[in-house]
Amino acid sequence: MNILAIESSCDETSAAVITNGKICSNVVATQLIHTQYGGVVPELASRAHQQHIVPVVDKALTDAKVGKIDLDAIAFTQGPGLLGALLVGSSFAKSMALGLGIPLIAVHHMQAHVLAHFIDDPRPQFPFLCLTVSGGHTQIVKVNGPLQMEIIGETRDDAVGEAFDKTAKLLDLPYPGGPLIDKHAAAGNPQAYPFPLPEMPGLDFSFSGIKTSFLYFLQKRVRENPDFIHENLDDICASIQFTLIDILLKKLKRASRETGIKEIAIAGGVSANSGLRKSLTELGSQLGWQVYIPAFEYCTDNAAMIAMAAHFKYLANDFTDQTASPLARMEF
Ligand code: KG4
Ligand code: ZN
Repeated sequence: MNILAIESSCDETSAAVITNGKICSNVVATQLIHTQYGGVVPELASRAHQQHIVPVVDKALTDAKVGKIDLDAIAFTQGPGLLGALLVGSSFAKSMALGLGIPLIAVHHMQAHVLAHFIDDPRPQFPFLCLTVSGGHTQIVKVNGPLQMEIIGETRDDAVGEAFDKTAKLLDLPYPGGPLIDKHAAAGNPQAYPFPLPEMPGLDFSFSGIKTSFLYFLQKRVRENPDFIHENLDDICASIQFTLIDILLKKLKRASRETGIKEIAIAGGVSANSGLRKSLTELGSQLGWQVYIPAFEYCTDNAAMIAMAAHFKYLANDFTDQTASPLARMEF
């Protein structure tokens, strides 16, 4: 059974082939054009998806040595994401499925981030908790089965990836700033500058306050010393990263305590953060958790995770049809 999967929700155009549950190819074209604008420009993203989609799909099929005629279904990211960007992938998938006379599978992007854990061993046992952290989302998901997930905590304002990117922007680091904060943090002192933690009840998160206190902190320090950022970049990055990770892990600890679940996973772009990976591993061994951290290539957006989700949907006979339209916001 061969499924072609297409991802186009933000600024990565990606296609993957999955054969009987095993990923055979995963091609990702990252759009570099947004760097000069300091963030993703939706219209430019849509145009870049249009340019990339044919060569990316062709390469995914070639790498997997699977012909179009051998495909049993086509999957696409239905949402959430940028509407124009989603339109490119979903229209392409729908046309291709129509042309080949094969079924269509609509995939939820955030569920796919979680299911990236089933691409390779070790695979988590159900039920498990997944901290899903990306540029647009921050969620604690209770995963009861491959397609049975419930959000038990989420951000009330900014996503943690957004907090990384926006604080990086204040430091004059180019978009996306998350990986650059990570890089500088590795050489800095995480205790150099303490920031107040947000007070948010239950399992929900808030990241807008930390962004504002970071802005005031920087303004004050730069007034005192115009070279403050330049002279202390590593320590500043280490401190802000430490705070963001602290916020995430405190809630994850609470979620584990409240649910009694000790199978703990992370997913999404921010799960590529080396500080988060290290702190989660340490916390997990202290608390007797079984911790699951995805391979780097499956943290940020990719079609392999869409293909993995599509595999489960195919087995569950969960298909869609030509009336399916992309959804900028999408429920689980
Ligand atoms: O999952 P993803 O590729 O796209 C969305 O669905 O949003 O996540 C992108 C986010 C960006 O905010 C990016 O800065 C962040 O993931 N990110 C990181 C790292 N790598 C990617 N944040 C912190 N440290 C990293 N190493
Ligand atoms: Zn994503």
